[in-house]
Amino acid sequence: MDSYLIGLGNNDTKTRHDASVDFVKFWESQAKKLDWFEPWQIPLEWNPPFAKWFVGGKINASYAALDVQKQDKIAIFWEGENEERRSVTYAQLLDSVQRLANGLKSLGIEKGDRVTIYLPMTPELVVSILACARIGAIHTVIFSGFSAQSIRDRIVDSQSKLVITADGGYRRGKIVKLKDVVDTAISDLDFISNVIVYQRTNHTITMNSKDILWDDLLEKNSNTCPPEKLESTHPLYILYTSGTTGKPKGVLHDTGGYLTHVSATFRWAFDIKDSDVYFCTADIGWVTGHSYVAYGPLLCGATQVIYEGAPDYPSHARMWDLIQRYKITIFYTTPTALRMFMKFGDDIPNSFDLSSLRLLGSVGEPINPEVWKWYYHIIGKTKCPIIDTWWQTETGAMMISPLPGLETIPLKPGSGAHAIPGVDLAILDESGNTVPPEIKGYLVIRKPWPGMLTTLWGDDEKYKTVYWSKYKDTYYTGDYAICDKDGYFWILGRADDVLKIAGHRIGTAELESSLVSHSSISEAAVCGIPDQVKGEVIIAFLVPKEGVSVSDSLKNQIIDIVRKDIGAIATPQSLYFVSKLPKTRSGKIMRRLLKAIASNEKIGDVSTLEDGAAVSEIQTAFDELKKQIRG
Ligand code: PRX
Repeated sequence: MDSYLIGLGNNDTKTRHDASVDFVKFWESQAKKLDWFEPWQIPLEWNPPFAKWFVGGKINASYAALDVQKQDKIAIFWEGENEERRSVTYAQLLDSVQRLANGLKSLGIEKGDRVTIYLPMTPELVVSILACARIGAIHTVIFSGFSAQSIRDRIVDSQSKLVITADGGYRRGKIVKLKDVVDTAISDLDFISNVIVYQRTNHTITMNSKDILWDDLLEKNSNTCPPEKLESTHPLYILYTSGTTGKPKGVLHDTGGYLTHVSATFRWAFDIKDSDVYFCTADIGWVTGHSYVAYGPLLCGATQVIYEGAPDYPSHARMWDLIQRYKITIFYTTPTALRMFMKFGDDIPNSFDLSSLRLLGSVGEPINPEVWKWYYHIIGKTKCPIIDTWWQTETGAMMISPLPGLETIPLKPGSGAHAIPGVDLAILDESGNTVPPEIKGYLVIRKPWPGMLTTLWGDDEKYKTVYWSKYKDTYYTGDYAICDKDGYFWILGRADDVLKIAGHRIGTAELESSLVSHSSISEAAVCGIPDQVKGEVIIAFLVPKEGVSVSDSLKNQIIDIVRKDIGAIATPQSLYFVSKLPKTRSGKIMRRLLKAIASNEKIGDVSTLEDGAAVSEIQTAFDELKKQIRG
C-alpha cells in the first residue's frame, strides 16, 4: 500500500493528548474558543442516549458567526451559474441577517418556531439560516431538488409556520421554478402563515395572499436585531435524512455542542488561515453544506466561494476556472464529482493555474484509491494533503479525518486515517466484541460527542431504536468498516438498507413505498449497484399485479411517481419486472442477492450473502430470479 507523507508542517501533540486524558474537559477547552454570553455550569449531562452539552451556557450561532468577525472581510464570493458575481462582506451579511430576523419577528415567528427554507445556493440561503438562528427559530432546510410531496411531508412533520423560498434557481442553464413547487406543497397547509419569496430569476410568478417579497421585507425592517441569548441546548436546526424506515427522519441538532464540534473540526481539518479562500461544493440542503458552508467557515471568520449551479456547467472546466479566478486555497468536494471530473480527462484541469491550492478534501462516500491518486496528482500537483472526512448528518461534523491543521501523518488513499480528538470509535462484531485489525465489523461511537444529534424531531423512541438499540449505550452508525494494523479506519459502505447515490442518502423503504403506490405494482425491492461515476445507482425489482402488461408507458409512469414523491435524485436507473421477489423463509427480501443479479455477478460465496438463509435456498432463488427477469 502506498503511503503519502504530506502535511502542512503542523505538529501539535497536545490536542490529542488532552483529548485522551479527559474528553469532556477537552471539549470544554474547544467550546471556550467560541463567543458565549454566559458560561455553562455543567459541561456534559449524559443520560444515555440523551446528551446535553454545556448546560447553562448562553450562546447565539449568528452572533458567533458574524458579529465577532472582521466586518470588512469578504465572507462570500458568490458565483451564479449564469456567471453573475457578488462579493459579500461580514458586515453586509450581518446587515441582511438582522433585517430578515426583524422581518421574521414582524411576521410572528418566535423562539422555537420552525421555519422551512427551500432556496437555491445564493447568499440569501446563508442569510435565512442565520436570521433564524438570531431569533432562536429552528431552521429546516430542504434541498432544492426535492419534490413538492417531500417538502409537504417535511413541513407537516416539523409543523413549520413559515417558508422562505425563491421564484427560482438556475440549474444547467434552465430555471428551476421553486416557488411553484412550494405552492403545490403547501396548498392545503393552513398552519403556514407566510411565504417569503426571494427574486432570483425574476420570471413571472403568482403571488398569493400569504406571500411577501424578500426585498420588501428587508427594506421595511431595521438592520439592528440583538441576538437572542439562547441556551446551549436550544435546537438550532432539523435536517431530514433518509433511513431504514419509511419516512425521512428529522435529525435535530443543538446550538453550543454543534457549533463547538463544527468550528474545531473546521480549524483542525482545513488549517484555516486569515488569507485562505475556501470552497466547499456541497449544497446547503445537505449536512455538509450546513456544517462546512453555512456554519464552519463563518465561525472561523473565513472567506469562501459559494457556487450556485451544476459543477460541470456550462463547461467541464467550471470548478478549475473558479479555483484559478478566486485563487482558492482549500477545495472540499465529493468522490462522485471527482469521478466525473476524472472522466473528462486531465487536459482540462491541466490547462488551468491551480497553484493556489494547498489542501484538498473529500466527503460523503468512500473515495476509491485511483480517484484519490488522481486528485492528489492532477489537482493537488503532489503538494496538497487530501483529507478524506467521514461523518454523517447525525454526527453533525467530522468524526474521522486526517487533520493537517494539527498534525502531519502518512496518508493512505481511501482511508480517512484516525478518529478526531475527543471521539471514541470502535469496530464491533454482531455480539458487541471489538474485532481484531483487518476484520470487517460495524462502526460505532462509544462516548457522546458535542456535534451529536440530540434526538429525532418528535420521536425519542425512534431515536433510541435506530441508533442506540443494537449495542448498549453505544451509537450505531450503520456503516461497515475495518481498522488496519496501523490503526487507520477504512469505511466499507452501509450495513443497513440505506443507499448512497452520488453521495446522497436514499432509504430503500421510502423508495419501495413510492414504487408500490402505482396501482399496477404489487411488490417492489430496490438495491444499489456500483457505478463508475455515482458510486452507486438504483435498480428496482417490481412485481406487477395479475394481468398487467409491462410497457414503456408503465415504466415512465413509475418513474414519474418516484420523482413526484421524492425527487429526481431517487430515480432508478433500471426497472426489472419479475413474478416474485426472492425472500428468506422468514419473509425478508434477499437484497444482496438482488444486487448480485443486477450487477451481473456470479453468486459467489452465497453462504455469506444473506443472513438467515440456507445456501440452497439462495441458490434456487438466484437461478429462479435470473430466469424471470424481464427488463
Ligand atoms: O456511509 C457513510 C457515508 O455517508 C453516510 C452519511 O451520509 P450523510 O448523512 O448523507 O452525510 C454525508 C456527509 C457527511 C455515512 O454513514 N460517508 C460519509 N463520508 C464518507 C462516507 N463513506 C466513506 N467515506 C467517507 N469519507
